[in-house]
Formats: sequence, structure tokens, C-alpha cells
Amino acid sequence: MAITKANSLKGEIKIPGDKSISHRGVMFGAISEGITELTGFLDGADCRSTIGCFKAMGIDINQENDHVIIHGKGLHGLKKPSAMLDVGNSGTTTRLISGILAGQSFVSSLNGDESIQKRPMGRIIAPLTLMGANIRSIKDNECAPLEIGGSKLKSIHYNSPVASAQVKSCILLAGLYAEGTTSVTEPVVSRNHTELMLSGFGADIKSQGLTASIVGGPKLVGQKIDVPGDISSAAYFIVAGLICPNSDLLIKNVNTNPTRAGIIKVAKAMGGNIELLNERIVSGEPVADIHVSTSNLKGCEVSGDIIPTLIDEIPVIAVMAACADGTTIIKDAAELKVKESDRIATVTENLSNMGCDITPTEDGMIINGGTPLKATTVNTYLDHRIAMSFAIAGLVAEGETTFDDEKCCQISYPDFFKTINTIFNK
Ligand code: S3P
Repeated sequence: MAITKANSLKGEIKIPGDKSISHRGVMFGAISEGITELTGFLDGADCRSTIGCFKAMGIDINQENDHVIIHGKGLHGLKKPSAMLDVGNSGTTTRLISGILAGQSFVSSLNGDESIQKRPMGRIIAPLTLMGANIRSIKDNECAPLEIGGSKLKSIHYNSPVASAQVKSCILLAGLYAEGTTSVTEPVVSRNHTELMLSGFGADIKSQGLTASIVGGPKLVGQKIDVPGDISSAAYFIVAGLICPNSDLLIKNVNTNPTRAGIIKVAKAMGGNIELLNERIVSGEPVADIHVSTSNLKGCEVSGDIIPTLIDEIPVIAVMAACADGTTIIKDAAELKVKESDRIATVTENLSNMGCDITPTEDGMIINGGTPLKATTVNTYLDHRIAMSFAIAGLVAEGETTFDDEKCCQISYPDFFKTINTIFNK
């Protein structure tokens, strides 16, 4: 695939389902009683990994593209898998399923690809161990492969050192299997899909300020969930519509949950023409259509409590900053180093290769925007968000932007390049 400079981007885009909500729909459906039906499911490799893990534990799941039916077997209905569970490239699968596995009477193990085997799991091993779980890193390096389960859990209160919805959700899911109330306090609030969705399945779960708590042993009941479009996938087209000339895009049916929607605030702070239309609630989540058009952008600071609400969008926000006049400072985002790639390093390398003035820092980056970008071969490090963010940079760069790998987009947005074609030079 080669991306060239766009003269204009115009049209309506339908964004694939939210990845975080799709994972949770499968997991919570599997441990609920009766049928859970998901429409608008993200049919990407990460969510398929979650389906594969629960099938391996005896759950019947029928998937046809974005329509999934899960025949749940209740909190205690999972079966010991006959082989190691394969979590693929998915951090969400790994950390959330670990909370569920910790509460099982059987011992299981899980592993994933090379990237997963480098991602920090000490952050879930520590709290699960405090709950009495048997969980260990098989190579003793605080990473996958992990062995988990076979013990009784007790409830705890945990002060999490990181703002991470994966850590929070892992503990809350383990809390389903513990007697009494389990709670987690985060330094900054992270995405709250677990709290919203589990409550719909019948759990006694609350959040107050920085603390989320859950009461163990509920009866969970299958639900119908209409999964909204993923703002992390919409982000590429939000930025594309703002930075490309003669552009006007309507991005339909996007989840605008405030714990996810930081990119909208940043786009506005940079002077972007962006508006939310047709705001509504779908399956308990706020949803809107997002309208963007070509804008004169200026740099801004992105730091503090907003960071967890846009953590996955920082690579494409960096591309937006490269196209803005003036300086953008991104800080308080050290978590970027432990994503699918070290995104401080991989964003810096690719933006520098395109001619942008960017300096990496310990917890972010400083971007002096406004220099015209030139095409490059993107070094993706097999990170889907790096591939797609730099495809968007390619739409304003002089020359042909190519990729060392483009299959990694399958993780979260299999039709990404097709969607670009539907709006390119229209
Ligand atoms: C996710 C939480 C975030 C995010 C990831 C999905 C989730 O990770 O980066 O893509 O679904 O809970 P952290 O919670 O570890 O920051």
C-alpha cells in the first residue's frame, strides 16, 4: 500500500466497533447466564483473540462479522482449557482475562505474540497476589507467559500506581469471585467501560471519583449490546479531516464517552473545526456523529488528567501537532513506552524521518510543527496505531508513503485503507 498526498477528503465514514467495549461484551457475556448478543462488534484480530480464549474454555460463541452471540455459562461455568490460551497481540485480553482466570478453581496459562511477551504484567500480578491469587510469570520476568488460578480470592482495596483501565478492570473482575467489596483507586480516572457495562449485566459496581468498587458473587445475566464506533479509530479521520486541504468529513456513530474523548478537546484547543452532532446514548454509552473540516491548527500543551482519555490517540495527535503552527508539548504520558510498541520512540523515529522537528522526553514529546512533511517508509514495529497514524501523515506528505508492514492494521481496523479510498480526492 502506498499513500499519496490528498487534494481533498470528503464523505461519510462508518467507524468499526469500539475495541474496548467489544472485548468486554464477549468476556462479560461468557461469565453471565443466558445469551448475550453483540451488534457492531469489532471484527479485528484482538477481539478475535478474546473470542478464541473463551471458546477454549467451553463457551459457545457464534460470530458472523460484527454480529456475535455468546452462550454464557455463569460466573462458575468456564472449563479448564486443554492448552495454553492464546491472547495474540492483545493487552486488554491478557489483563482482563487474568482477573477472571484468577477466580477459577482450575489452573490455566496464557501467552501471546512477541510484543505481548514484553508488556508489563507486574501491574496485575501484584494486586491479584494480594487477593490471594496464584499467578506467576512463567519466565519470572513479570511478563507473559502467565500461569493463573486454582485458589480462593479475598476482597482488597488497591491503590493503583498507574491510571490503567486494564489494571482496574482486572481487579474488578477478580472481585466478582471474592467475598465482600473489592475496590481500586487510580491516580487519574481511566476509561470506565467495565463499570458501565458490568452494571448492565447485573453486578453491584460503583464509581465515585477515583475509586471503583464491586461486590463479589453476583448473578450476571446476558445482555443485548449495540457496540458504538471506536473513537480511537475515528481519531485517524478526525485528524485527516483537519489537516488535509479542502476536506469535510462526517464520522458516524462514534463513542464519545468522556473517559475516551480527550482528542476532541485537543482538536478544539488547537483551533480545529470539529462539532458533535446527533448526540445520544446507545447501550449506556454516549455516542455522536463527528463533523470535521480543514482547519488552521496551532500547537498546544497536552498533559495531566486528560492523558488517560486520549492515550491511544497520542501517535495521531503527534501527527496533528506536526501539521500545526508552533509548539505542542505532550507530557505525563510515560505509559506510551509500554504500549504495543514504545510509542515515544516509534512516533519520534517516524515523524523525524518525515522531516518534523520532534524531541522525545521521558514522559512524552515536544513537537515544533509547521514544516512540510515528506514521505517515508514507515517503521511500524508491528504496532497498528503507528501504521495508521503515519498513513494519515502520508496524506499530507510530499511523495509516496509506504509501510514495512500494513497487516498490523488488522488488530483494530481491518478496513482502514479501504476507508481512506472512499474519501480520497472526492
Ligand atoms: C484499554 C485500556 C488502555 C488502552 C488499551 C485498551 C482497555 O490501556 O491503551 O488500548 O480496553 O481497557 P491501559 O488501561 O493499560 O492504559
